[in-house]
Amino acid sequence: MNLTTSIDNKISGTIQCPGDKSISQRVLMIGALMNQEMMVDGFLHGEDPLSTMNALNQIGAGITVDENGLVQFCRRNYIFQHCDESLNLGNSGTGLRLMLGLTAGIGLNLSFCGDESLSSRPMSRVIKPLTEMGAKIESSNGKLPISISATSLHNQYTYELPVASAQVKSSILLAGLASGSGIQITEPIQTRDHTERMLNHFGANLEIRSEGSKNIIQLATSNHLKAKNYTVVGDISSAAFLIVAALISNSSGLKITNVGMNPSRTGVLEALKKMGANIVVSNQRLESGEPCADLEVKKSILKGVELSGEIIPNIIDEIPILSIAAAFAEGETLIRDAAELRVKESDRLQAVSDGFSILGIAHKNFDDGMSIMGTSEKLYIEEPINIESHDDHRIAMSFLIAGLKCSRPITVKNCKNIFTSFPNFMELTSSIGYKLEK
Ligand code: S3P
Repeated sequence: MNLTTSIDNKISGTIQCPGDKSISQRVLMIGALMNQEMMVDGFLHGEDPLSTMNALNQIGAGITVDENGLVQFCRRNYIFQHCDESLNLGNSGTGLRLMLGLTAGIGLNLSFCGDESLSSRPMSRVIKPLTEMGAKIESSNGKLPISISATSLHNQYTYELPVASAQVKSSILLAGLASGSGIQITEPIQTRDHTERMLNHFGANLEIRSEGSKNIIQLATSNHLKAKNYTVVGDISSAAFLIVAALISNSSGLKITNVGMNPSRTGVLEALKKMGANIVVSNQRLESGEPCADLEVKKSILKGVELSGEIIPNIIDEIPILSIAAAFAEGETLIRDAAELRVKESDRLQAVSDGFSILGIAHKNFDDGMSIMGTSEKLYIEEPINIESHDDHRIAMSFLIAGLKCSRPITVKNCKNIFTSFPNFMELTSSIGYKLEK
């Protein structure tokens, strides 16, 4: 599915932010494990969480969705079951890495597969600690296909994360929770803490303390989780595309309601505000243990900024769209310490650089980032332009937003993966005045 942008758009209106992907993934796994009645509102019906839901149902979770999109868990009289057919996690790194932890902890015989992008991504980062915990895992050189064999895990595993990864942290926590084996994780840099918040929300025996810049997360051996209905807040990573759209284009103001404001995810607002963005936060509240708020965004003159160090894990998914904001900001933006972008759904540093080269946006590449020389002027496009999405949802949406600053429509190729994280992207962009044509 190729998408072509339109010109002379005026972004305005009020929209509701789609559900958070990370939280939707976690509530499925923790909900299935609790095996109690529960209803989930605000769930993201994107392909990634849906492939996790299918995988959980293959092992007997019995999760259903009603006609209003509410996700329902019921109490089963069995725990989980082995499954001969491979669990297919599609495009979802979070789905696969967290499911590996969860199912290793439950102790099942299973095999896993996924699409081409997921099959090329490194899984050793979870296989290593899970194996140290006692899991029996076979892989193809740390990649898919992966199979696990039922076994029980050792008690009181301690692990210091070598990469700042919420997926690795969560995979180990889920393995500890499902096996009742007790875990201590040291996290050198804060990463998104949705798993910890959700475990606390359902009453887990979890302690978190800081030692200098490190977090120590301890999950006890015994946890009696109590299910209660859950509301998923909106995904700030999805909101980021619309925020940048309103900032760089001819906008009379955009309001986005119900945006997740977990401090381990709001680095994108911090970065944009440093660039000069006019974003007003209101109606701050807590939903199921997660902060959220409404945002009002006004067209702004942006300037270049430096993004490196501790903020990087916080903005890791927003760097492609922040790069677009930087391309239309005055002066230089420098992004460093972001080598993790090379092992996301695509090599996102390369993908952004390829798109910039085609659009004529001046930039320099580094192993762990790039520098971007921006201009607030519209890009003058002389002939039809095709940009590759590299089959990556965030690259596709980033360049579609860049189209707002182009003098002629541009085409972004292979946009189908937008459905993994933002299924109503085209509907929402159209409702705020930006038409994308198939
Ligand atoms: C996620 C963590 C991040 C992020 C991904 C979702 C999560 O990955 O990039 O989109 O839900 O835990 P890493 O843990 O690999 O940094």
